[in-house]
Amino acid sequence: MSTPAQAPRNSPWRRDPAPTSLGDRIVRFRDPLHTHEALPPFPAYVKRPAPIAPTPTVTPKTRIVPPRFADVRGRRVVMLETAIGDSLYATGEVAGPLLRDATRIRGRNTDCFGYNSRSRSLYQSHPWVLGVRRDGRAFGVILETTYSFEIDLRAGIVLACDGPSPGVVVLERDSPEEVLGVLAELTGTMPMPPLWAIGYQQCRWSYEPDDEVRRIASEFRTRQIPCDVIWMDIDYMRGFRCFTFDPEEFPNPAKLCDDLHAQGFRGVWMIDPGIKVDAGYGVYAQGRDGDHFVKADGAQGGGEYHGSVWPGPCAFPDFTRARTRQWWGDLYNDFIAHGIDGVWNDMNEPAIFDGPGKSMRDDARHDADAELGGPDAHARYHNIYAMQMVRATREGILRARPEHRPFVLTRSNFLGGHRYAATWTGDNTSNWEHLRLSIPMALNLGLSGQPFVGPDIGGFDGNADATLFARWMGIGALLPFARGHSIKTSVPHEPWSFGEECERVCQLALRRRYRLMAYLYTLFREASQTGLPIVRPAFFADPRDPSLRTIDHAFLLGRDVLVVADVNPPGKRLAPGSKPGGVLASWREFDIVDACAELPKLYIRPGAIVPIGPDVQHTGEILAAGNGTTSAERTLLVAPDEHGAARGVCYDDAGDGFGYQSGEYVLTEYVFETGKITGRVIEGKMAVPSDYAITRV
Ligand code: NOJ
Repeated sequence: MSTPAQAPRNSPWRRDPAPTSLGDRIVRFRDPLHTHEALPPFPAYVKRPAPIAPTPTVTPKTRIVPPRFADVRGRRVVMLETAIGDSLYATGEVAGPLLRDATRIRGRNTDCFGYNSRSRSLYQSHPWVLGVRRDGRAFGVILETTYSFEIDLRAGIVLACDGPSPGVVVLERDSPEEVLGVLAELTGTMPMPPLWAIGYQQCRWSYEPDDEVRRIASEFRTRQIPCDVIWMDIDYMRGFRCFTFDPEEFPNPAKLCDDLHAQGFRGVWMIDPGIKVDAGYGVYAQGRDGDHFVKADGAQGGGEYHGSVWPGPCAFPDFTRARTRQWWGDLYNDFIAHGIDGVWNDMNEPAIFDGPGKSMRDDARHDADAELGGPDAHARYHNIYAMQMVRATREGILRARPEHRPFVLTRSNFLGGHRYAATWTGDNTSNWEHLRLSIPMALNLGLSGQPFVGPDIGGFDGNADATLFARWMGIGALLPFARGHSIKTSVPHEPWSFGEECERVCQLALRRRYRLMAYLYTLFREASQTGLPIVRPAFFADPRDPSLRTIDHAFLLGRDVLVVADVNPPGKRLAPGSKPGGVLASWREFDIVDACAELPKLYIRPGAIVPIGPDVQHTGEILAAGNGTTSAERTLLVAPDEHGAARGVCYDDAGDGFGYQSGEYVLTEYVFETGKITGRVIEGKMAVPSDYAITRV
């Protein structure tokens, strides 16, 4: 836990004499040296929150302690005091324990292949801290900068950035859930994904040629291992030219898409930002002629900025400009017309092999729109480059196929970027440390506004073995984004690659995910409405209980299911007391597949009803009867509380499209009282599934 950071008497630390209120218990503080200047735009926000009134420095209603600003070693630094008993979380994509007290990060989007728990900059940056007070009330801090920044939580909260002194927004609420609700009001929520994107997904760098993709897909069906998506990594392209197909290995992408669809699969295909400098390549020529690429600084010659990625020297679209985003988005028109279902934007920090820090030079020039801050150097836009890329990608796909929900996965991103794309935790390693890290990484990203997240199951770099792979599948199948992926040089990493026992565990793990699909889908809908993460730290069950604040091996799936995972190698198995205590002690163990000691344990909250679906091979089977997600048979897991009562909700819609925005959905509340269950529609105009079996837990 943090100790208060004390400023010495007569120190240079200064407070903003006139902070402004942005809403109920949301206050923006500014550096007193810079209050005369207008604050620059901050694209994390959906809509810039305007000050509504000057606010007294300390209002009786809040416990917001105004931050202090000072020059420290030549740079402006902001300090917020914390109190004994405060616990700090979030800070975006971070490798290490859930509790962020005593940690330090540098928010600079970095291609950090081979990262570990000592790495200070990963692929994404979120200038955001969530604090939980001793009494369970909570606060949040936003540093309004797009420049690279530091968050130092070793003594209070100390923040700094490479650019002009930014605004600092501090907000206060009665619980962490409410704080995340305010973050969602400011930065928006994740759009509802298509149902198939919540299924299991299988990837490798790369399945090639196209027949190998077909073979992998068939193996899943033959072996009866549930799966919805097969991924195409960079090798489908012609010489790594984005939006092209290798004529030898992927000569007929439309046929491949058709064949996948015929077996109930979807295909997600990679697109990187680096466009090969090659006058004979249409995308490059269009970008050059349309003046769409980032420029080198005048001192560097002022022409197109070039840097090497997979195809050799590349130019990089300037996504900070609407007209370039429009051009880029339109490129997806012909691309997805082949039958491509989703898009994977990778290497978008941007990763540049021969650039400083494996990226673009800070002095490269962006011709940004005023909306983002106007023309300026890359240093200012580095952290939002990927965010603007996936904004363009999502909008382009939506224009090309307005009747479907887009699915975009991104490696790099920024606070608020969950509005455009889901994410994964990049190039992890096939070892037990990374399996352990995957839970707190997903949790802290969720606490930073990004609910749709998961790791490369099995680990990307290196070789898994049967025990590690099976254990990882058990856990990964319960995280929001569930995809197995591995590097070119690894041994095969499919669920059947490590022998029969591992295959059996993987099959059970994935059957669990699919049976939980009705509950998961309801949680996705909740996240898209309220910003609450899908997986939540154990302390969300009781934010006042200090024993729940440091738990890395267990998490909540929504409000009603607790997952307790064994993340230790064989021989170091978890003690029987691994189930968290406090209010969680009374949660009751359940399962929905055959018992298996290798899988995480599941517990249900007394008083909850959790909707469960049938055993299926892919989500298309759930939708097969034509009434959206209501088509599937339903079981209600009922866990009566000490009064014999329980309740729960279930969300249903078409599983794709936008009908739900005009009422084509149904939110049903199930109530169990005096031994009887009733279902009541609380929202939406779709017909409610009336037939359900009941299982008491
Ligand atoms: C880097 C990504 O992180 C990884 O997932 C991918 O397989 C490789 N690029 C190749 O495209």
